Amino acid sequence: MTAYRPRRSVLYMPGANARALEKAKSLAADCLILDLEDSVAPDAKEAAREQVCTAVKAGGYGPREVIVRINGFDSGWGPGDAAAVAAAGPNAILVPKISTASDVERASQALADHAASNNISLWAMMETPLAMLNAQEIAAAAFATGNRLSCLVMGTNDLAKETGATLTDKRFAMLPWLSACVAAARAYGLAIIDGVYNDFCDEEGFEAECRQGRALGMDGKTLIHPSQIAPCNAIFEPAKEELDWSRKIIAAFELPENRSKGVISVEGRMVERLHAEMARRTVAIAEAIDEMGKV
Ligand code: COA
Ligand code: MG
Repeated sequence: MTAYRPRRSVLYMPGANARALEKAKSLAADCLILDLEDSVAPDAKEAAREQVCTAVKAGGYGPREVIVRINGFDSGWGPGDAAAVAAAGPNAILVPKISTASDVERASQALADHAASNNISLWAMMETPLAMLNAQEIAAAAFATGNRLSCLVMGTNDLAKETGATLTDKRFAMLPWLSACVAAARAYGLAIIDGVYNDFCDEEGFEAECRQGRALGMDGKTLIHPSQIAPCNAIFEPAKEELDWSRKIIAAFELPENRSKGVISVEGRMVERLHAEMARRTVAIAEAIDEMGKV
């Protein structure tokens, strides 16, 4: 087993949609977010909570990571969601609108108060203007005792709503925030998942945005429709050429004559030890994806 956990494709589904909760068991998404927040109408909240908790307890999702997005703690439903979901035991609980380190602490405390298993981690939606300004302190809160934070999820629709910045023209207005959040995540060893692409019939635009997210350093992308899973998986996993090149670099540094060298030449290109480290990570990611497929 490798430590890396594939999170290429992270599919949202409304917690009120029983068909989607069932269908997800056969979809090739790495992670599933069963949503109790934005995609559930106020009068369906209680029923969705019950349905989602029943589905999580029943299982059947195989190797897919199961995450429940609860309502915010100030919403009225949040505390009840946290209690019920902590008891149901998904892999992670995703909390909307985390804006400060103390929001992370409050969410961690809520899970501790409900005696949530230590195996349940905390994921944070990064979707408010304040979160963009506080990305470092939010990610740093992962290091505080008792905090379970392991992943940041970009909420680009809410961010557009709150800031007035648009998602048009290759998201140029969002790029500084996306990059700042990637840097914050990496500085503190967290995973980070890109926002959704709303126009799920536009395959070309979707694939371009997946490639952009990967280039920014994202681990994967949040999705809204099953048709987005296959292209997303393909873009966020190491390409065959990248994998072949990585194996060549590793093999070259393992040759007796290169073992003590810091820099060597492979097929006419300069390769340093840091490239060998990157190559090992690429191979580990590919192996983890392979392993997941075999389960
Ligand atoms: N997760 C799981 N299954 C889904 C799904 C999802 N997000 N979206 C669609 N499906 C299923 C449908 O149930 C249907 O299954 P079936 O034909 O086997 O019965 C199939 O995929 C095709 O669905 P389709 O008819 O193309 O979509 P739709 O018109 O029913 O729904 C949306 C479109 C956008 C309403 C729906 O995809 C959706 O709810 N997406 C998630 C929204 C969400 O969670 N938002 C919150 C975060 S941004
Ligand atoms: Mg939202």
